[in-house]
Amino acid sequence: MRVLSGIQPTGEMHIGNYLGAVRNWVNLQEKEDCIFFIADLHALTGIYQSAEFPNMVLKKTIEILAAGIDPERSIIFPQSFVKEHTELCWILNTITPVAELERMTQYKEKSRKSSTNINAGLFDYPVLQAADILLYQTDAVPVGKDQVQHLELTKTIARKFNNKFGQTFKEPKALVLPAGAKIMSLTEPKKKMSKSDGPQNCLGLFDEPDVIQKKIMSATTDMGKTVKYDLIKKPGISNLLTIYSLFSGKTIKDIEKEFSDKGYAKFKKSLAELLITSLEPFRRKKKELENREVYVREIMSQGAKKAQVIAQATMQDVRKKIGLL
Ligand code: TYM
Repeated sequence: MRVLSGIQPTGEMHIGNYLGAVRNWVNLQEKEDCIFFIADLHALTGIYQSAEFPNMVLKKTIEILAAGIDPERSIIFPQSFVKEHTELCWILNTITPVAELERMTQYKEKSRKSSTNINAGLFDYPVLQAADILLYQTDAVPVGKDQVQHLELTKTIARKFNNKFGQTFKEPKALVLPAGAKIMSLTEPKKKMSKSDGPQNCLGLFDEPDVIQKKIMSATTDMGKTVKYDLIKKPGISNLLTIYSLFSGKTIKDIEKEFSDKGYAKFKKSLAELLITSLEPFRRKKKELENREVYVREIMSQGAKKAQVIAQATMQDVRKKIGLL
C-alpha cells in the first residue's frame, strides 16, 4: 500500500499534529511504502518571512525525523523540490469546479482569520493538495479530521479526471485515527488545537518540562470537580483525558476511576508529569539532529530524487492523456 501525507513548515509541531497524524505515519512506515513531505508551497498562502522560510523547512524536517520517521524506510522531502506538484496542480485546476472550492471549510475559516490576505493560492490550496496525493498513485492518506474534506475533494477530482481522460489516478482513502484525530485547544477547548492560534493553545511536541507544566496546569477546565469524559459539559477535561489516554495507553474509563475522588489539580499534575516523561525522547532526538544539518539536508535531497522518479512517471502519463505535446 502506498501511504502519503504532508505537514506545513509553519510553527512547531504540536501534540495535535502528532496524535492526529504523525504517530500514525511512524506506525505505517513499518509495513507500508511511505512518502512524507513538508508542504512548503502550501505555507506560502499564509503570512511568512521569506528570510526565515528556508530555516523553517529544515526545522520541520528535523521535527519529523525526531518524531520517529525513519529515512531508511520512508521518503522525506520538501514539496517544492519536486516541480511536478505544481504542474499537476495546474492541470487539475482546469477540471475542478469553483463551486467545490467555495464549499471548503478550511478556506472559509482561513479567510475569516486572515481577511487582509485572501489570496488565490489560499482558494486553490485543496487542488495543490490533490496534486500532492494523486501524483504518487497514493492508496491511503493518514491525516487528522480537519483534512477529511480535502480528501473527499481529491477523490472527486480523481474520478472526474479518470472519467474524462481514461483511468489514470487511484482514488485515495483518508486514514483517520479513532482517537486523537481532533485534539482541542488548551485555552479554548471547543476549538481545534492550531498553530495559528498562538503558543498558549498548543502543547509543542518539543516543549521543555517547565513549559509543559505551565501550559497543562493553566489549561482551561470546566465547572465541577469530577474528572469525567463529557464532550458537551466538560470539553476541557475530555480533551485532557484523551491526551492522557493516548500517551499512557490507559483507557479513559481507567483514568476516570484513578482520579474519581482526586479533583482537577491532581489530574493535571499527573498529566504534566506523564507528558514531561513521554516527550523527553523527542526533545533529545531533536537536539541531536540540530547538530547534524548536513545529514538532514542530504535526507531532503535524496528523498526528493526518489519522489521525482514516481512523480515523473505519473506526469508522463497525464500529459499524454490530456493531449500535451
Ligand atoms: P497541517 O500542517 O495543518 O497539519 C499536519 C497534520 O496534523 C493534523 N492536525 C491535527 N490532528 C489532530 N488534532 C489537531 N488539533 C490537529 N491539527 C492538525 C492535520 O490533520 C494533518 O494531518 N493541508 C495539510 C498539509 C498537506 C497534506 C497534503 C496532507 C498538504 N498536502 C497531502 C495530506 C496529503 C495541512 O495543512 O496540514
